[in-house]
Amino acid sequence: MAQEPKDYSKYFDFSGAKLISEDEQGKRIRLGGREIHLMSEPNTRREKQRGKEQVQVLYDAAIPEELRSLGANRHYMITTYGCQMNEHDTEVMKGMFEQMGYTATEDRREADVILLNTCAIRENAEDKVFGELGHLKTLKTERPELLLGVCGCMSQEESVVGRILQKHAHVDLIFGTHNIHRLPHLLQDALMNKEMVVEVWSKEGDIIENLPKKREGMRAWVNIMYGCDKFCTYCIVPYTRGKERSRRPADVIAEVRELARQGYKEITLLGQNVNAYGKDFEDLDYRFGDLMRDMTAIDIPRVRFTTSHPRDFDDHLIEVLAGQGNLVEHIHLPVQSGSTEILKRMSRKYTRDSYLELVGKIKRAIPNAVLTTDIIVGFPGETEAQFEETMTLVREVGFESAFTFIYSPREGTPAAGMTDDVPTEVKKARLQRLNALMTELARESNDRLQGAVVELLVEGESKNNPDILSGRTRTNKLVHFAGPKSLIGSFVHVKVTEPMTWYIKAELVGSESAAVL
Ligand code: SAH
Ligand code: SF4
Ligand code: F3S
Repeated sequence: MAQEPKDYSKYFDFSGAKLISEDEQGKRIRLGGREIHLMSEPNTRREKQRGKEQVQVLYDAAIPEELRSLGANRHYMITTYGCQMNEHDTEVMKGMFEQMGYTATEDRREADVILLNTCAIRENAEDKVFGELGHLKTLKTERPELLLGVCGCMSQEESVVGRILQKHAHVDLIFGTHNIHRLPHLLQDALMNKEMVVEVWSKEGDIIENLPKKREGMRAWVNIMYGCDKFCTYCIVPYTRGKERSRRPADVIAEVRELARQGYKEITLLGQNVNAYGKDFEDLDYRFGDLMRDMTAIDIPRVRFTTSHPRDFDDHLIEVLAGQGNLVEHIHLPVQSGSTEILKRMSRKYTRDSYLELVGKIKRAIPNAVLTTDIIVGFPGETEAQFEETMTLVREVGFESAFTFIYSPREGTPAAGMTDDVPTEVKKARLQRLNALMTELARESNDRLQGAVVELLVEGESKNNPDILSGRTRTNKLVHFAGPKSLIGSFVHVKVTEPMTWYIKAELVGSESAAVL
């Protein structure tokens, strides 16, 4: 597995550090009264020079026998921040913990290992993690044997690793997004040697198949690709997740077949840009549209995907999605901005017009399609007129919901160096205006369903009232209705009685939907 040469000195101020030893495994240093094993060099700067070499797929990921009792009588807890990628990585890590004999806990006082699986997408995501590290310091002081780890996207940022090393010396383990399969070895190292272990690979590794996964519920995430090569100028993900690597179609298909066999009702195919699936295959002409077509042949009731970048959304994919069946009519298509000029500076590689053209094509092919999106307001230098273009585009497309964000500068990304003369107050006001519009559109779209009969996958009791069940439509709308708990996990038909803004009230008209599927 290719790794960068190890030399931390140019990134961190280790003036107070003492070098103990140095070998192929990295460096052992003493810093602030603690021994630290720096196993490789975090480096986001060189990320853009992507390697041309083929990614290897490794199938033998079994946890060695001698590590399978590491967790006997021990509890683990993972706190997850960020997107579905991270949620799914957490499922993989849970799977590994349990193969090592660990038991899950939600009580941090009971935990022997606490991992924070972090997100770097915006500053407030990072602030949350540093806040939590502060809280955990007290716990760690009370129970020094508690093992505290930081993983996920923040670990891939050298400035974050530096800050943890210097200011949060109570952390025992730091590893990144490319080496989560190394968790058992890293845990062992941290436990046995009682030193802080840092292993972050700056270069993505191979694709590791057959890692254990601990999934919950009736819906499952399935990774189809890793990384992102789009380099939108505001975004940290290409640096924290590495280059685009697609899993082999046969591996994805086998995993989905197995999930269907186990009785899962819904899967979501995951990638930062699923439309780029297969572009990296040198020996195969097989893209996302082909994969979705092959999904229709599998006996799983609902197939979703996230996220699609508008640029690679091709006609073949639209044609396959139009066939529907188990492919749901919900498309999350992040637009980010309605201004061609801003899109250009974001390096999104499409224009307002080409986005609207794509939406037109999708709507013609799939008339009942529900479109949702992501939007950033207050990108550096965004003018009032450019923001208004976002507002008019949102109305024109008629998005039914949106994740909306204020732009957050990310160190090392091109946008962080752009001049920004838009005051924070103006950005906040724009976000409020956009959110008010989204509320209006969400309500209108729910109102259109008044009286309609829709299919739901019943997920469980509603949060505030155990007598009410909640479920999701194919278009991912949340619906509440009264019914027996025995319906949880099955498909039902309900009639919409009272549409609200963020959910819908309905009544049961029929259950178990073998006939519907
Ligand atoms: N791969 C997905 C996006 C993943 S990040 C895509 O391209 O669609 C999820 C969302 O976070 C993005 O769509 C964007 O709207 C938002 N985002 C990313 N970087 C951001 C930043 N620096 N500031 C604010 N929002 C950001
Ligand atoms: Fe970030 Fe753009 Fe990649 Fe999405 S496509 S993860 S926004 S760089
Ligand atoms: Fe956050 Fe990493 Fe996802 S930065 S949004 S957890 S890919």
